[in-house]
Amino acid sequence: MSASDWALVTGASSGIGEQFAHALARRKQNLILVARSQDKLASLARELETAWGVQAEVFPCDLSVEGAGSALAKSVLERQGGVSLLVNNAGFGARGEFWKLSGERQRQMIKLHLASLVELTHHLLPGMIERRAGGIVQVSSITGFQPIPYVAVYSATKAFITHFSLALAEEARPFGVRVVTLCPGGTRTNFVIEGSRTGRGRFPAASMAPEAVVAEALAKLDAGGGMVIPGWANKMSVWIERLVPRAWVPWAVAKMSRP
Ligand SMILES: NC(=O)c1ccc[n+]([C@@H]2O[C@H](COP(=O)([O-])OP(=O)(O)OC[C@H]3O[C@@H](n4cnc5c(N)ncnc54)[C@H](OP(=O)(O)O)[C@@H]3O)[C@@H](O)[C@H]2O)c1
Repeated sequence: MSASDWALVTGASSGIGEQFAHALARRKQNLILVARSQDKLASLARELETAWGVQAEVFPCDLSVEGAGSALAKSVLERQGGVSLLVNNAGFGARGEFWKLSGERQRQMIKLHLASLVELTHHLLPGMIERRAGGIVQVSSITGFQPIPYVAVYSATKAFITHFSLALAEEARPFGVRVVTLCPGGTRTNFVIEGSRTGRGRFPAASMAPEAVVAEALAKLDAGGGMVIPGWANKMSVWIERLVPRAWVPWAVAKMSRP
């Protein structure tokens, strides 16, 4: 079995990542499923293998640990020879005054959202470039479009992902590699926002089903890559923010995001 048969999805045990796994299995793509929850991954792998006749391997690991992204990528290069699709999706949130939130958890967020994502991309992209084919989906957020007080590190990591991914798309396109920058807004998943009253995201009426978010991302991938802001309400909110003077945005957003 060659690299072109495999897709790697991080954060596949739940939410958007789990829906990517379902949608890709329906496309007869073999899967490498990554998250910390081994049992959830194993039962998802069995379900996908039975339903779609694909091969699904599980790789339980904590991607917030130093060097975890590189270790995962090296193992994939040895076992599968590479992947045709990389979905960098694993993530979590934390709300509160920056100085009161755990420094260790914020370091873990930076390692998970930034270091592991960059390491996986750096190790797995060269094979795609060589084969002149492949795709990468980097899961960012609409929070990456503006500084958000009380979610300061989270929104800053998502700004990094958006900028990195948009720049990478231009470098990779001439080699036939499609890059999708996925910027969801509120999505009905198990998304954890540590420090918030409920420990969960607030999901307004306009929040989306993860299946719909994934469908938009895969349609963009099929169309050659680019940025996806799923749903009209999210598109509108990003568009409106562009009309407001930049210095006003954190002031206005602070009123809404104060814990
Ligand atoms: N839901 C929203 O409203 C929303 C909006 C915008 C962007 N997003 C982004 O969408 C992505 C997916 O979130 P979701 O909404 O699907 O949330 P979710 O249901 O909580 O899924 C998060 C996934 O990340 C995995 N994960 C968390 N920490 C990890 C770690 N240290 N190492 C490896 N895997 C880890 C979790 O698995 P384990 O716990 O098993 O490790 C889980 O599979 C995130 O990047 C998030 O920032 C979500």
